[in-house]
Amino acid sequence: MSAGRSVASQIEDIFHDNCLRFFQNAEAKRRWSIERDINWNGVNPESSELTALIVQFFSAVEMYLPDYTAKMMQMIRHSRGRAWFHMNWGYEESKHSIVLEDWLIRSGKRTVEQVRAFENTLLTGEQWELPFDHPRQMLIYTMIQELATGLNYTNLRRRAQDEGDMALSSLLRWVAADESAHYNFYRKGVKVYLQLEPEETIADIKYVFDNFAMPARTLIPGFDECSKAIDAAGIYGPRMFLQRVRHPILEDLGITRQQLKTVGLNEKEADIIADHADYRADLARLAIYRRSYF
Ligand SMILES: [Fe+2]
Ligand SMILES: [Fe+2]
Repeated sequence: MSAGRSVASQIEDIFHDNCLRFFQNAEAKRRWSIERDINWNGVNPESSELTALIVQFFSAVEMYLPDYTAKMMQMIRHSRGRAWFHMNWGYEESKHSIVLEDWLIRSGKRTVEQVRAFENTLLTGEQWELPFDHPRQMLIYTMIQELATGLNYTNLRRRAQDEGDMALSSLLRWVAADESAHYNFYRKGVKVYLQLEPEETIADIKYVFDNFAMPARTLIPGFDECSKAIDAAGIYGPRMFLQRVRHPILEDLGITRQQLKTVGLNEKEADIIADHADYRADLARLAIYRRSYF
């Protein structure tokens, strides 16, 4: 990176590159069609009502897409890398509620009228608002939220397989792959900020984790009840958030032991995560050594 250029323009260049790479990769490997790529013949009308409730709940979270896209876009419109990524992100997210609702109808779990009525309740109700007011904080928020959402879908997929619903299983594979690609874009972005604005970014990571809640919590009717059922079904809950979202993210960001404590981990947690990160780095070095000499 050339000297004398502002940090903001260095960050923008990397985001722009990352956005183009994301787009090329999505076009080449990750485009999928609701009609063509889902094994609709494998739908199981005997899937449990709880599964249907969870699918409906996840589609409700996806339904606030007009707010997620419009309000975020206003915040990041000055950044070509982030704004163009966000357009692609919005396109990919738009398929998620459609395909989940399709499953509800094709499985016979809900009628078309029921699905439309539920959609209407959500779309004519209160709007989602940005939970944080700085673009860097929103980047951290979306990183966390995408990993958590991907985990929700992956765990629901396991349940769909146990219940013998291959349609739901196949659609959740595509949806989870999208969420995982989104997480990857955001985590790379957070790493850029960590490199170029480390102190501010660490403070924001702490702030966002301290105030994190899944989107639309206060907007979706029955959110808390449904969250409890999802937790009881072993799909997602506070414990899983710590073990499968918060800790892996902090380990992946490659921050120091001291920074881990600054973002809110206690001594023991920080040691476990830092030791694990060191161990993984050693394994990676060993793999390079083996490739070079054997
Ligand atoms: Fe989604
Ligand atoms: Fe996503």
